[in-house]
Amino acid sequence: MKVLVTGGMGYIGSHTCVQMIEAGLEPIIVDNLCNSQQEVLKRIEVLTGKKPIFHLGDIRDEAFLGSVFNQYDIDAVIHFAGLKAVGESVEKPLEYYDNNVIGTLVLARSMRKAGVKSIVFSSSATVYGDPEVVPITEDSPTGATTNPYGRSKYMVEECLSDLFNAEPDWSITLLRYFNPVGAHPSGIMGEDPQGIPNNLMPFIAQVAVGRRDKLSVFGNDYPTPDGTGVRDYIHVMDLADGHIVALKAVGETAGLHIYNLGAGRGSSVLEMVDAFANACGNPVPYELCARRPGDIAECWASTEKAERDLGWKATRSVTEIAADTWNWQSKNPQGY
Ligand code: NAD
Ligand code: UFG
Repeated sequence: MKVLVTGGMGYIGSHTCVQMIEAGLEPIIVDNLCNSQQEVLKRIEVLTGKKPIFHLGDIRDEAFLGSVFNQYDIDAVIHFAGLKAVGESVEKPLEYYDNNVIGTLVLARSMRKAGVKSIVFSSSATVYGDPEVVPITEDSPTGATTNPYGRSKYMVEECLSDLFNAEPDWSITLLRYFNPVGAHPSGIMGEDPQGIPNNLMPFIAQVAVGRRDKLSVFGNDYPTPDGTGVRDYIHVMDLADGHIVALKAVGETAGLHIYNLGAGRGSSVLEMVDAFANACGNPVPYELCARRPGDIAECWASTEKAERDLGWKATRSVTEIAADTWNWQSKNPQGY
């Protein structure tokens, strides 16, 4: 099965490509490298023994996408390409809507032209906004998003749903990720954020490796067991496997398929700090600071639907998440 993977050089896409190759699928990567490195291709080859096909280009370039679809007999698309920094999206809303929303529309149009009607889209738990109840099920209300990034994900979900309503022979799978973390257990591949990390785990990892002095813990007065924010951290290898399972289970069946991909457990900031300290054998220095504007207290997934329909469940623990992140960061202190 040949699968066009947009954004396949990025953090989640690269791990998914490795698992796809291991599962006998053939990824064809399209990426403009705006947030990833050419080196990733070599690492995929080191891990799998196979160098995937890679085309450098932008998904908003319809002629470019058309030429890729013309070259291969593509069966389905996994669509990771997009911009993902919440703070940056507030500063640059037009860039985010252009890349994430227009990019997806151009992709869908190119798919239709090529007769490819199966897409798996990287959505986010951010579409649920501040949930009224946890764990969050797939039928919880969506749309009360708080920033342009979140709105772009919600808009794409709405566009793809409308497409399905108009053309019900499509298979459209919306995967709502919770907090992807961790790295390939080999330490050869992992998350390599540019600049100061926005997210908790890469920040902790850079403190542990000595690139930053200390972690700022954003708020310890939330109504949670230790007062710090609680999230559903899912190992990127579990997430990668989730894509393959979803593609095989529903990717060939017409329908609008919506699944949470989370571990189904909540962990606090201080629990993650502790897990990391155990993994690296040193305390992780931190200071308690004010809340970060826009953050919610807690958020974790109900994983029942994915378990029931797909037979998929995350298996990797927070201990493994911390160990694999440390293995990657200590072997690649400056990233790729
Ligand atoms: P990433 O930035 O590491 O990967 C995205 C890749 O897409 C990069 O390689 C980038 O160069 C490429 N890209 C961006 N715009 C492009 C364009 N116009 N044309 C071609 N390539 C383009 O991000 P990631 O963490 O791997 O996330 C992948 C997807 O999952 C994104 O859509 C993101 O919004 C979504 N998501 C991520 C998280 C998370 O916390 N990492 C959570 C929920 C959803
Ligand atoms: N945190 C800190 N210090 C930091 C970074 C984060 O204390 O330096 C805390 C946050 O306050 C939060 C938790 O760690 O309580 C997790 O924060 P992240 O930034 O790692 O993740 P978020 O849950 O805020 O956001 C993530 C993705 C978003 C996505 C959202 C909902 O980064 O893209 O999940 O799915 F929108």
